[in-house]
Amino acid sequence: MGACVRAATIDDLHAMQRCNLLCLPENYQLKYYLYHALAWPALLQVADCDGAIVGYVLAKLDEECENEIRGHITSLSVLRTHRKLGLAATLMRAAHAALEEVYDAKDVSLHVRVSNEAALHLYRDVLRYERVGVEEKYYADGEDAYNMRKTFREGEARAKVDGDGDVETLRTRVERMGAGAGQKSKKKGTKR
Ligand code: ACO
Repeated sequence: MGACVRAATIDDLHAMQRCNLLCLPENYQLKYYLYHALAWPALLQVADCDGAIVGYVLAKLDEECENEIRGHITSLSVLRTHRKLGLAATLMRAAHAALEEVYDAKDVSLHVRVSNEAALHLYRDVLRYERVGVEEKYYADGEDAYNMRKTFREGEARAKVDGDGDVETLRTRVERMGAGAGQKSKKKGTKR
């Protein structure tokens, strides 16, 4: 059976955390996932394979930005068993579409290890992010991060999202969950 990419619900948060623990050394307490889900419900997407969560993207709005709405990808991963099927690219495009169409973000940024060839290929070559700097010793083990950014061009995300991830569905979903577009908070998450 194939996997589908859909917006996460509160019930998916444990499975997202499990996927993160299996794939990445940068882990987060459950309350950080919950905070994302409550603040920006359209920005958590999961790859669902017959009810099992095999990948996720956790995105948010940049809370440091006072005058502009800018997105940030907190974390992305896909289980080893489901890699190279296009799931990460689909998850990222769903997050881009929500950032652009629901929150009207002007761009999206992320950090990635300088040694992470798979993710770099995805961001640079497939999704057209640009490297805007290097943050030295960004990670706990001392590795540097590339700071990467993608500026949204009118209609780009809309053209790339199909079916259930379309703009009206995303808007309706946000309204149903009672969260306002562009909502901001000063509260921070905690890295474990
Ligand atoms: N080496 C080179 N290219 C790769 C690799 C690899 N190991 N894996 C995927 N790619 C390429 C694919 O070929 C594809 O490019 P193409 O369209 O030119 O063929 C592109 O990357 C996207 O492939 P997807 O199938 O969408 O990617 P996948 O679902 O396999 O997930 C990911 C990629 C998320 C990087 C996965 O390998 C993973 O979970 N890794 C561990 C966690 C991780 O590194 N997450 C990113 C950290 S940065 C952050 O979270 C902001």
